Amino acid sequence: MIFIAGGTGFVGRHLLAALQGEGRSLRCLVRDEGKSKWVQDFGSDVVTGNISDAESLKGTMDGARTVVHLVGIIEEQGSDTFESVHVKGTENLVNEAIAAGVKHIFYQSALGADPDSPFAYLTTKAKAEVIVTSSGIDYTIFRPSLIVGEGDGFTERMKQLISLGPVVLVPGDGTARFQPFYIDDWCRAFHKVLAGGMERNRVYEIGGPEQLTYNEILQEILNVLDLQKTIIHLPMGLTRMSLPFMGLARSVASLLGREIPGVTADLLALLSRDNICATDSMEKFFGVKPIPFAEALRSFLK
Ligand SMILES: NC(=O)c1ccc[n+]([C@@H]2O[C@H](COP(=O)([O-])OP(=O)(O)OC[C@H]3O[C@@H](n4cnc5c(N)ncnc54)[C@H](OP(=O)(O)O)[C@@H]3O)[C@@H](O)[C@H]2O)c1
Repeated sequence: MIFIAGGTGFVGRHLLAALQGEGRSLRCLVRDEGKSKWVQDFGSDVVTGNISDAESLKGTMDGARTVVHLVGIIEEQGSDTFESVHVKGTENLVNEAIAAGVKHIFYQSALGADPDSPFAYLTTKAKAEVIVTSSGIDYTIFRPSLIVGEGDGFTERMKQLISLGPVVLVPGDGTARFQPFYIDDWCRAFHKVLAGGMERNRVYEIGGPEQLTYNEILQEILNVLDLQKTIIHLPMGLTRMSLPFMGLARSVASLLGREIPGVTADLLALLSRDNICATDSMEKFFGVKPIPFAEALRSFLK
């Protein structure tokens, strides 16, 4: 049986769809009971729990051979901090996996995970990796760059930004590079891991076939949506200074039925740094030839 934590998220939903009908025994951890029916429709059993709460995980992995850990947050909210979800949450999951006699853990980290990173998102991903690698259980870790597909958080935020008016504001100069790749290609790589065709106890840094700047990514999204907008670059310092007013602007916008994407100082800084790896990573490791970004966008963005 495969135990999946984070199955209700963007990556998890696509993974469940990819595994559907393969006759595998699946069990998803769900923290919001409202999502149970949806997960069951994919042919998975459901258990309720929150990875930050060790008690809630007790017994949930009994009978599991593999644990797929896709839980992560990009923004801290209330008691859901990077430490409580990435670090404590991973510790709780791993302890329960050890108790249940799990044989293999898959952990989805992130490209740039580093204990010395200035960003809590990435330092806590690095801490979570150490918890997994020192668990004594065989592991596979993916460190992906940006993954795109139907419902991905990044493209949804970009669409909201684009829809705000005739101009699109870009924090900073937009020259940081990313390596976006399509969720179906991620699923193909994951399948190789699940099928046992990949060397265990390894960390795989993966990304798409092109290194694209934020400006190029934005332009490609505009192209696929067939929109022409003026792009205005805001000095990073000014964007940071305006952060306290963003919360107010979001509240007013939501009263008017509009949505302004949430932004934090960390998120802004993350978007202003390169997040890249080898352009042939997917082929080299998994024999998967990832489709170009524009083709991926055209397949799901209308
Ligand atoms: N998408 C990307 O481009 C990308 C790139 C690099 C790395 N990653 C990593 O890949 C993983 C999946 O990303 P994603 O885009 O699918 O994220 P997502 O859409 O935000 O999904 C996150 C998942 O984690 C669950 N979750 C959050 N906190 C939880 C908690 N305390 N207990 C139990 N479940 C919890 C969410 O459950 P609810 O449905 O209840 O909210 C959801 O199922 C994350 O670890 C992320 O850091 C993603």
